[in-house]
Amino acid sequence: MSFKDKVIYQIYPKSFYDSNNDGVGDLRGIIEKVPYLSKLNIDMIWFSPFFVSPQYDSGYDIADYYKIDPIFGTMADFDELVKTLKKHNIGVMLDMVLNHTSTEHEWFQKALTGDKNYQDFYYIRDPKPNGDLPTNWESKFGGSAWAKFGDTGKYYLHLYEKRQADLNWHNPDVRKELYKVVNFWYDRGVENFRFDVINVTGKDKELVDYTPGTNPKLIYTDTPIVQDYLKELNHATFGKNPESVTVGEMSTTSIKNSIEYTRPENHELSMVFTFHHLKVDYDHGQKWTKTPFDFKLLKKILNDWQLGMSEGGGWNALFWNNHDQPWAINRFGDPIHFRNKSAEMLATTIHLLRGTPYIYQGEEIGMTDPDYQSIEEYVDVETLNAYQQLIANGKTADEAFAIIKSKSRDNSRTPMQWDNTKYAGFSQSTPWLKPTTQKEINVAKELSEGEIFSYYQKLISLRKKLRIISEGSYEPFIMEHESVFGYVRKLNSQTLLVLNNFYGKETHVKVPSEYLTQDFSVIINNYSEKINLTSDVELKPYQSVAFLIS
Ligand code: GLC
Repeated sequence: MSFKDKVIYQIYPKSFYDSNNDGVGDLRGIIEKVPYLSKLNIDMIWFSPFFVSPQYDSGYDIADYYKIDPIFGTMADFDELVKTLKKHNIGVMLDMVLNHTSTEHEWFQKALTGDKNYQDFYYIRDPKPNGDLPTNWESKFGGSAWAKFGDTGKYYLHLYEKRQADLNWHNPDVRKELYKVVNFWYDRGVENFRFDVINVTGKDKELVDYTPGTNPKLIYTDTPIVQDYLKELNHATFGKNPESVTVGEMSTTSIKNSIEYTRPENHELSMVFTFHHLKVDYDHGQKWTKTPFDFKLLKKILNDWQLGMSEGGGWNALFWNNHDQPWAINRFGDPIHFRNKSAEMLATTIHLLRGTPYIYQGEEIGMTDPDYQSIEEYVDVETLNAYQQLIANGKTADEAFAIIKSKSRDNSRTPMQWDNTKYAGFSQSTPWLKPTTQKEINVAKELSEGEIFSYYQKLISLRKKLRIISEGSYEPFIMEHESVFGYVRKLNSQTLLVLNNFYGKETHVKVPSEYLTQDFSVIINNYSEKINLTSDVELKPYQSVAFLIS
């Protein structure tokens, strides 16, 4: 079960390091930064896609699964990157986007020329008899999920961007082709995979309208057949290697289904990314709103998933950040007054839970949302569509902009900040997305005088040293507390008591006598003052502390 003591780092290649000064990050740039990654002591890197793509959805619209996009480099660069990482004992995890292809992919292009075999690779449907679109489904990036299929009078399904056509997984030829893709990279030395939005692959053969008033996504998300597809994928590709680490990105899922996806006996995936905990700052479940986060709900969700997954023998990926999320520190911490402490508190919360933690590039130096002043500074297609939609729904330009600023995916896609120069040491020429906070937040400064990076190093090394972190059970603690998320991990005779203050005010925690003993040690604390395990523990703003009791 080798994935339990690992820590995985996500690189968004476009924004990591630009070695050829064209404003876009590249593979040779990553090679140059391997010593930095090695210093953090992570075990594996998940790379967002760098395959051939027109980049309408920043590489998640793949036109050729077998080639590196020239903006990122060459296959020789890729091979060198894998070799260099292996030398540093860092594994490679590739992002497999198998639910859809770019409309520029050869399969879609052949379908467009009338090839029936390739038309069956996608969901191509006639309009309804009255001329309406085939179903009332909406694209996740706004508007209808159907677009005109050339001039045939038919439509193709795209749950995401218009230029990302959904693949028909009912067709065994499609699945065979996709397994070939995974095996191609496996044979090039890649053992680990992330599967993009993998639980929307289980659409029905007959596509029908969702009933207004119900959750529109349920009609195509997380259906039972996804479990069959994953078993088949596992068997046909990485399943031959018990060391392979795999993670499925699960949109709208349940604890019950996630247990099934990840129970080792089922031979599907090692773990899943789920998103319920990142929707606690959505007003009425709507992403494009601006509202403070609901702390009690956040605790409840994390607790339910921890308990549920452990009771069912499932396994969670633990994360706050990725390339689709604004920075957690802006949502759940305080980037202005307590940037260090709140970054460390959030890290502690996640890293000491049961599951495998992920770190998104820049998190380890406490990067924050950029301070953009106008919509023109944003690039992401989802963001730009949402802005138009907000205006169309009657928001003023200022209101719409404030929402975009708090929720845009570009918040975390700005270039990694290596130093305090104009382009943040990311490139010598204008980056594809503008950095704005590099004066205060950058790697050089962090390594010489900061405290977040070294705190992450400590968390990572604790997971490797203490089996209670990687293997221990989970139990809730002080669920009713107004500002602290506490929990208990247990293994054999050991107990780990973790306390995280989510607010910028001091607070107190009453510790029941069963935990009180002289025989304890503080394994991590983000303040340097000594702290004691007593019946009344005082926590400072955004303080995190973990007591190991034996
Ligand atoms: C996933 C990716 C996201 C992408 C979408 C469609 O959610 O993480 O970036 O836009 O899938 O591929």
